[in-house]
Amino acid sequence: MGVTIKDIAKEVGLSVSAVSLVLNNRPCRISAEKKEQIFAIAKRRHYIPNQAARSLVTKESRMLALILPDIENTFFSSLAKRIEDCCRREGYMLLIANSNDSYEQDKNLLRSITARGVDGLFMIVSNESYQYKAKLIQQLKHLPIPYVMVDRIYEQLSCDKVLYDNEKGAYLAVRHLQEHGHTRIGCVVNTASNNGMLRLKGYKHALEERGIEYNPCYVTEGDYRFESGYEAASRLLETDITAAFVSNDMMAIGFLKKLYELGRQVPKDFSLVGYDNSLSPFVLGVQLTSVAQDPQLLGEEACRLLTNRLKDKDTPPSTICLPPQLVIRSSVEPPLHSPDCI
Ligand code: RIB
Repeated sequence: MGVTIKDIAKEVGLSVSAVSLVLNNRPCRISAEKKEQIFAIAKRRHYIPNQAARSLVTKESRMLALILPDIENTFFSSLAKRIEDCCRREGYMLLIANSNDSYEQDKNLLRSITARGVDGLFMIVSNESYQYKAKLIQQLKHLPIPYVMVDRIYEQLSCDKVLYDNEKGAYLAVRHLQEHGHTRIGCVVNTASNNGMLRLKGYKHALEERGIEYNPCYVTEGDYRFESGYEAASRLLETDITAAFVSNDMMAIGFLKKLYELGRQVPKDFSLVGYDNSLSPFVLGVQLTSVAQDPQLLGEEACRLLTNRLKDKDTPPSTICLPPQLVIRSSVEPPLHSPDCI
């Protein structure tokens, strides 16, 4: 069994509380010589602090938690890595939990994670939870620990939030297609989430700005996974679109798969823009243009908000809305035929 503070206290001839203060670098009236002796014993006997016992004294677990919707999605896994890096730099461990985009999991994880005594929480709500928004807002409102909503937020909830400007990101993607002459532009969105509603708004804004009528036949739903991008392409490629804005890279790859099966080439005879820029750099055969939401910046801002909140629970909450960047590669070219040829 590992050595305890009690063993060290016995060897150095001091009380357990005195040794605990020294090992926790807390103020105490122990001589420098005795302190040196305590640290030497701890090192020689490979002492590992018992965090659970320590938290009973300090009332801190030095543990934070992140609930995210889909750990297999590279946007979320990249974001989780950045958040963990930041937490570690701040002296915290990060517990990462995957909700599988399910409200039930959001609800249960919020309960079980707070029961484990974490000090704070990063919350990325599942898409499904938007149907149960009122219930989840109530649960978040009564959370006993500070939390930050990341990426997917509830406007009605007064708390710290950080996200990218989804409407702007979609607008940049569609405007880029329009600047290359496309007027019949498909759109794959996930309006089960707040982000998806805002991206659809950005799509419509770009159309209106150019006087292009919104055609609901050019818009279809996806769930941010590969398969839904493939199925969305099967529907949209039945129409006369010459390009598509697909609102995340995983669905854009599914969309590409259908294009290949139909013998369509990007950008030669079809133009495509993705979102997240999480997979675009690695797509074989196509240099996919995509809207970047940098996980590094998002993670750092989320960590800063939460660690500041842990130190100061009184200042009013803040919302940080970051500017997305269109990363232009070579998946967009002018349409083969001008609109009046069809
Ligand atoms: O790829 C998953 C999508 O859902 C991302 O665009 C991110 O914004 C998340 O909300």
